[in-house]
Amino acid sequence: MIILKNSSEISKMRAAGKIVARTLKLVSQEIAPGKTPAQLDALAHRLISEAGGYPSFLGYRKYPSATCISVNEVVVHGIPDDKPLKEGDIVSLDFGVLLNGYHADSAWTFPVGNVSAEDQRLLNITRESLYQGIAKAKAGATTGDIGSTIQKYVESHGYSVVRDLVGHGIGASLHEDPSVPNYGKAGKGDKLKEGVTICIEPMVNAGIWRVDTDSDGWTMRTGDRKNSAHFEHTVAITKAGADILTTE
Ligand code: MF3
Ligand code: CO
Repeated sequence: MIILKNSSEISKMRAAGKIVARTLKLVSQEIAPGKTPAQLDALAHRLISEAGGYPSFLGYRKYPSATCISVNEVVVHGIPDDKPLKEGDIVSLDFGVLLNGYHADSAWTFPVGNVSAEDQRLLNITRESLYQGIAKAKAGATTGDIGSTIQKYVESHGYSVVRDLVGHGIGASLHEDPSVPNYGKAGKGDKLKEGVTICIEPMVNAGIWRVDTDSDGWTMRTGDRKNSAHFEHTVAITKAGADILTTE
C-alpha cells in the first residue's frame, strides 16, 4: 500500500534530506587515497548525530553501520572496513537519515583521485540515468516509466542495470511501497500521484547485471567483478513534478 504524504510530512522528509545532502558533501570531501571506509563512516555518523538525526541504516535488519560504502566491484551494501582506498578506485557512499519520524536516503559514487576514463564514464552515465528517471517521476506516470527510461539509457551506453535490488517508497519507514525498479516497461507498475515519495536509485554495472552476495550476508558484488556505480535521490511527487528532497 502506497502511503501518500501531505506537505508537512514532505517538509519533514526534506529536513532529513538536507542532513543527508550536507553529510554526503562533507564526507565526500574527505575521500582520498589512504582513507578507510570505516573513517568515512565514523565521520558520517558523527555529522548525522550532530545535526540531530539518526542514521537510518544502523540496525536496519541488523545492518551494523551508519553507512554503506561500496568500492569498485561492490555494487551496494559494502560494510565500511579498514582497507584504505587507493588512487583510481571508485567509491559509493549510501546512507539515510531519520529526523522527526521521517527518513531520507541518498547515494553517490565518487572517484578516488584520478580514475580511468572508463570508470569516469560509468559514473557519468549512472548519474545521468538517475536524472533521466527523475524527469519521468510525475503524477500520472508509472514506476515502469521510470525504470524503462533508466534501463534504455544505461543499456544504450553498453552497461547493465542490476535486477536484484530496486528503488522504493520511503517515509516514516525506510522502505515502503511502491517498488521502483531500474528496468521494465513504460506504462507498467504502480501509478504515481501527488504525495508519493520514492527513492530512485540506479545501480549500474560495467559488465553483466548479475550480482553475488558475500558470506557476510550484505556485500553485493558484480558477478564478473567489473565495476559498478550507484546514485540515489529521495523525491516527492508534487504538482510541479519531482521535487528532489536530498539536496541542500
Ligand atoms: N540504500 C539502500 C536502500 O535504499 C540501503 C538500505 S539497506 C541497509 O535500500 F541495511 F543498509 F540499510
Ligand atoms: Co534506498
